Amino acid sequence: MPARSSASRRTVLRGAAAAPVAGLGLAACSTPDGDGPAGAAPTAPVDLGAANEVAKGAAQLYQDHNVVVSRDRNGTLKAYSTICTHAGCPINKLRGTTLVCPCHGSEFDALTGKVVQAPATESLTELTVRTTDGRIVAGPAS
Ligand code: FES
Repeated sequence: MPARSSASRRTVLRGAAAAPVAGLGLAACSTPDGDGPAGAAPTAPVDLGAANEVAKGAAQLYQDHNVVVSRDRNGTLKAYSTICTHAGCPINKLRGTTLVCPCHGSEFDALTGKVVQAPATESLTELTVRTTDGRIVAGPAS
């Protein structure tokens, strides 16, 4: 008899993570699928991909590295940590240029890092970003 698939196990975990946690407050916050500690922004420069992946006026979420990179209408790149400033959840959704936190619904502007929807009150942490040989490299603020 085949073992239970990891997909169904993850589905169960996601269901459990979505259960009401009234009364637990921020202590209940962990990764959205509940299987490990919250992530962290890069502590050293990371190669994120081709620079042309981020168009003017757009943003790209690099979820594996907890980084969002945006490019303003003048072509200037910005990078921000996508660790939510409310309670530390990794943000996993980018809608246009708006980042949406899965834990309590805070939203951030990926072009500026600023909060556009509470409960977060602090802007995302800005990272350094540059292009090298047509690649985007982001890292901790210097
Ligand atoms: Fe609470 Fe993101 S951790 S809204």
